[in-house]
Amino acid sequence: MAFLQKLYSWYDDFGRTLPWRGIDDPYRIWLSEIILQQTRIEQGRDYYLRFVEAFPTVTDLAAASEEQVLRLWQGLGYYSRARNLHAAAQYMATECGGVFPSSYEGILKLKGVGRYTAAAIASFAFRLPHPVIDGNVYRFVSRLYGIATPIATDAAYKEFESLLQKQIDRQRPDRFNAALMDFGSLQCKPQPDCMTCPFADECVALRSGRVDVLPVKSPKAKPKDRWFYYFDLRWREDGAEKTLMEQRDGKDIWRGLYQFPLMETDKELTDKQLQEASARYAQEKFQFSIFNFQFSPPFLHQLTHRTIHARFVRAELASAPAVFPEKDRCFTVEGIKKIPVSRLIDRYLQTL
Ligand code: ADE
Repeated sequence: MAFLQKLYSWYDDFGRTLPWRGIDDPYRIWLSEIILQQTRIEQGRDYYLRFVEAFPTVTDLAAASEEQVLRLWQGLGYYSRARNLHAAAQYMATECGGVFPSSYEGILKLKGVGRYTAAAIASFAFRLPHPVIDGNVYRFVSRLYGIATPIATDAAYKEFESLLQKQIDRQRPDRFNAALMDFGSLQCKPQPDCMTCPFADECVALRSGRVDVLPVKSPKAKPKDRWFYYFDLRWREDGAEKTLMEQRDGKDIWRGLYQFPLMETDKELTDKQLQEASARYAQEKFQFSIFNFQFSPPFLHQLTHRTIHARFVRAELASAPAVFPEKDRCFTVEGIKKIPVSRLIDRYLQTL
């Protein structure tokens, strides 16, 4: 049997039904692809449905504030995706008359859209013959043809793309790509069951006993450690409990999200060092002499390139700080629930 026949026969039996399948609205397809870039389908599905409900069209998304978008994104991580999504929606609303670009090159120009996402949108929404190549597809194709080129490199992308260009269904690239994605993630898994695989008779990796060494991965850089000490300062004012938070800026992680005033150090502090550093920090930033700090246990937070070691420094103040840095703002405990915060801060708030 030919490649396409085998793939489609498998897809008819085992392909997934997903809310962004079988539609051709480029806006919704784009939304789903951005959400799925670093998110599992089960988690992504709920977010997708909430986004479509809150912002049914690209114009609705463009009209929202960045804070609204970040708030709806909360919990998904990799927040630059949400910021790019919003910026790209505004670009389409203002520069393209609210019309989604319909060429591969035009789609690729959108912020946050790389080759993979552009190929997915171009094929699903406009039936353009661009194969999707993600980790699952690399796994399947490298095994099927016995390719040992380290994946996720430019050379590998070109090699796999040119191979798949020969196989792609030019009438139905949307169906081809959906089938390829599902086959790579459901059948040709990291630990696959080759007994049930329709490609078993031609799989080079299976024949040569290399299923468990393909695909070849490039060595990963070790995540860097960072130590964050957050100051959760509380006081009562107008009958409500209040705290200070600031919005993160700069080029760093979590830009646009809110956090407690942060002291970052280049190594872990002992309890004694933390006590001293906290008193110094409170004095310098808030001109407050605080000694009754309570320190939370460490929270470990793993990001792709960073390991964050966080502790929360809590202090009850008799009154509002008389001075605090320009960017810090007062929030009630209820108010915190309405602003976007990182998953790490959220985890801490859940423990209170
Ligand atoms: N992963 C990324 N895009 C996807 C899609 N459209 N369907 C299933 N999984 C995906």
